[in-house]
Amino acid sequence: MSLSRTTRQCEGGVQVRGLSKRYGQRLVLDGLDLDVELGQIVALLGRSGSGKSTLVRILAGLDRPDASHHLAVGSVAVAFQEPRLLPWMPVWRNVALALEGAGAPRTDHGPRTAAVAMLDEVGLADRADDWPLALSGGQAQRVALARALVREPDVLLLDEPFSGLDALTRISMHQLVRRLHARHRRTMFLVTHDIDEAIRLADQVLVLAEGRIAAAHLVRHPLHELRRDLLGELGVTEDETSRTRH
Ligand SMILES: Nc1ncnc2c1ncn2[C@@H]1O[C@H](COP(=O)(O)OP(=O)(O)O)[C@@H](O)[C@H]1O
Ligand SMILES: [Mg+2]
Repeated sequence: MSLSRTTRQCEGGVQVRGLSKRYGQRLVLDGLDLDVELGQIVALLGRSGSGKSTLVRILAGLDRPDASHHLAVGSVAVAFQEPRLLPWMPVWRNVALALEGAGAPRTDHGPRTAAVAMLDEVGLADRADDWPLALSGGQAQRVALARALVREPDVLLLDEPFSGLDALTRISMHQLVRRLHARHRRTMFLVTHDIDEAIRLADQVLVLAEGRIAAAHLVRHPLHELRRDLLGELGVTEDETSRTRH
């Protein structure tokens, strides 16, 4: 196995060749290749259990592949479905935590100022001194985004970050992600099982199936044709989505 985690070769994007991961008898990722260009928003769609989170964990360095010919990822930060805030620290400290430890960027004016500035970008500067438990689900997820972005990562990995939110909150989170992307121009890798969310946010939509990227689509009009193709590639009928769409 040759495994290189470098920032140079991919210059702020992601480049993966021949990535495999097995859990027991089950081969979850099977020689997967992946390219995400700098500054792109790429959505990864896949059925439940198709290995999306496994891929995210490996890209984040939280899990090791069994084999990989090449794995080049810039600096990364992750946000998960649950905000994972520490309840005994005020909101601003939760964000500032990301500025501690190895690989954290240096701040000019101290961690509180940097944390509050980032909270301002997600619309929560006035909640800096509150406790996490006083926040709504959507607000807590905004704090999680602030905590991820305050590190100024090359690549922001988002693993179904909005699945736990109600439909209206999800729409305002989509707007926030678009705003943050326009401002920071980070590479974003968004895992979702929601075709419409993928189409709404991403420049490119990938489909993970049988351990590999089975399809890749640039998002452009007409979107209903793209939606139909994606449904086919995921093996989902229109009927199934109208029942399960939130
Ligand atoms: N730590 C683990 N140990 C054993 N099996 C795992 C582990 N993590 C994931 N799996 C299995 O790998 C497959 C892919 O899981 P996952 O990456 O979480 O899928 P997704 O995020 O697409 O729903 C599933 O069959 C899951 O049960
Ligand atoms: Mg998952």
